[in-house]
Amino acid sequence: MADHETFRLRRARPGDRDACYRVCLLTGDAGRDASALFPDDPDALGNLFVGPYLALEPELAFVLEDDEGVCGYVLGALDTPTFYRRMEEEWLPPLRARHPRPVGPREQWTEAQKIYHEFHEPDFHFPPAFAPYPSHLHIDLLPRAQGRGWGRRMMEHLMRELAARGSPGVHLGLSARNDRAWRFYRKLGFEELERITTDDGGVIYMGRRLPV
Ligand SMILES: CC(C)(COP(=O)(O)OP(=O)(O)OC[C@H]1O[C@@H](n2cnc3c(N)ncnc32)[C@H](O)[C@@H]1OP(=O)(O)O)[C@@H](O)C(=O)NCCC(=O)NCCS
Repeated sequence: MADHETFRLRRARPGDRDACYRVCLLTGDAGRDASALFPDDPDALGNLFVGPYLALEPELAFVLEDDEGVCGYVLGALDTPTFYRRMEEEWLPPLRARHPRPVGPREQWTEAQKIYHEFHEPDFHFPPAFAPYPSHLHIDLLPRAQGRGWGRRMMEHLMRELAARGSPGVHLGLSARNDRAWRFYRKLGFEELERITTDDGGVIYMGRRLPV
């Protein structure tokens, strides 16, 4: 069967939340399965990287689906400062109430506790150099959907939607350990904006201008 009959790209619906959180977990360790890192809270990553996009900008949330269910998503935020302000005011308060700030030395925190720390001290990174790229996005596909051109199609779809809403550019962050994603984004015309080195490898920010 042709690929376009197997996989369908559509706008996300509220009922996709659990499946999208699962895709996030199964790709959350620099592109690989992070389940073993989050035995105590499989929703931790999704609560940071998926939930706010579905809730706050559902018109820019798209899922890839096949007969087994949702197997990928691309999630956009049109204006990053506005999105981060809404996360701060609307999304994070209930999570902070449910997950107290972790105490004790960071080396002893679980991976979930490191995410809880981010609920309280979010890494809202938007320096002046990113101003030409005010939108941002996340994309993840399960292994069965990878390497078939869907990542490119999903990125192009979201970038068209962002451009149609007047955005001049989009940025994203990825783990410095995720070489595959770095090559994918380069292929799609993204340039490196910034590299931040941390204990667990670091983060690379990339950006791409959008056609006006
Ligand atoms: C990274 C990811 C989004 C790429 O999507 P994909 O569907 O696998 O990639 P595609 O098949 O659409 O490839 C698109 C283009 O990128 C190229 N590409 C993809 N992976 C590549 C790699 N590792 N090296 C070089 N080029 C690569 C392809 O050759 C293709 O080029 P073409 O369109 O000119 O033929 C997907 O593999 C994924 O979700 N991986 C796991 C989660 C992840 O790492 N997400 C990113 C977190 S920041």
